[in-house]
Amino acid sequence: MAMRPPASSSSFRWQKPRPLHRRLPPLLLLLVSAASFLLALAFARAAAAGLLRHANSFGRRCSPEGYVGEEAEAAAAQQQRRRPRIAMVSFSDEAEGGGRLRSFRGVGEAVAGNKRSYAGGMGYRYVDARKLVDPGRPPSWSKILAVQSLLPRYDWVFWNDADTMVMNPSISLESILHAAIGHMDFDKAPDLVVTEDTNGVNAGVFFVRRSKWSERFLQIWWNETSFIQFGSTKSGDNDALKHLIYGLSEEELQAHVAISPMQCLFNSYPWIPTLKSVLRLLASPKATWNGVYSDGDFLLHLAGVDDKRKWVANLIEEMHTVWPMKEK
Ligand SMILES: *[C@@H]1O[C@H](CO)[C@@H](O)[C@H](O)[C@H]1NC(C)=O
Repeated sequence: MAMRPPASSSSFRWQKPRPLHRRLPPLLLLLVSAASFLLALAFARAAAAGLLRHANSFGRRCSPEGYVGEEAEAAAAQQQRRRPRIAMVSFSDEAEGGGRLRSFRGVGEAVAGNKRSYAGGMGYRYVDARKLVDPGRPPSWSKILAVQSLLPRYDWVFWNDADTMVMNPSISLESILHAAIGHMDFDKAPDLVVTEDTNGVNAGVFFVRRSKWSERFLQIWWNETSFIQFGSTKSGDNDALKHLIYGLSEEELQAHVAISPMQCLFNSYPWIPTLKSVLRLLASPKATWNGVYSDGDFLLHLAGVDDKRKWVANLIEEMHTVWPMKEK
């Protein structure tokens, strides 16, 4: 049937077709926008995760050139007058703290095996200081007691939280200290060697040198009782450490504390593509880049990760393919 103009053409006005977005019901429009946004976000997250995981292939360096690696290890071994005595200390199980979601239960043994085998291979002592935990505080605080208990017998004590794993056992602790301090004269070294993440100094992994300054510093740290927190993922020991370090005078900081310019020298965090991580990446891209775990890094720290047990199982699997290690 042919279209006929309406009888009264004056009452008819031709209208331009409305643009698509005007014709779609607002709810549908909202859904389409949300879907595109989520798709873009998912793409950005996957791309970021891939990029960050391979930071070292994209030219990131966790230590100054020539400090870490096989040639550097050999040179360092020659240069050392006396090999420092180093103890690696941790608690193999922190199941009492951190609540259900962040539970370490079942992680302890796997992680302890990883560290024991690394320490054994390198000639360090690995100590599980679980028995030293003071029940009067969240367990994380007792890392101070653990370090104090070993300091009299070792040149350096290397504390590492239970949710950390050595991912590249070819890197020695001496070479890490060398890179962080800039020389091998450990008698003239700073007393505390730490890393910073996007929140500041991290108390999960650090080196302490045997000295009067260290003894006193550990005592003062333990005495910062006002920072103790119960019933939270935070226990307060890290905040106390930050308070102390950032409260030091410029001279004291220079003389006694070395903060590695690169977090990934010995304390890399996995980048998990959550919205929070994306936002943090956008807010502090440089700090994230310096600290993100990439293949080849020395140590992985599951800081703030919820399902640690699953992570550790996957990592151990992965390590066996990348760095075949003798089982004890
Ligand atoms: C830490 O506290 C104890 C007990 O209150 C005290 O005896 C000690 O002198 C304090 N140490 C430092 C270095 O402040």
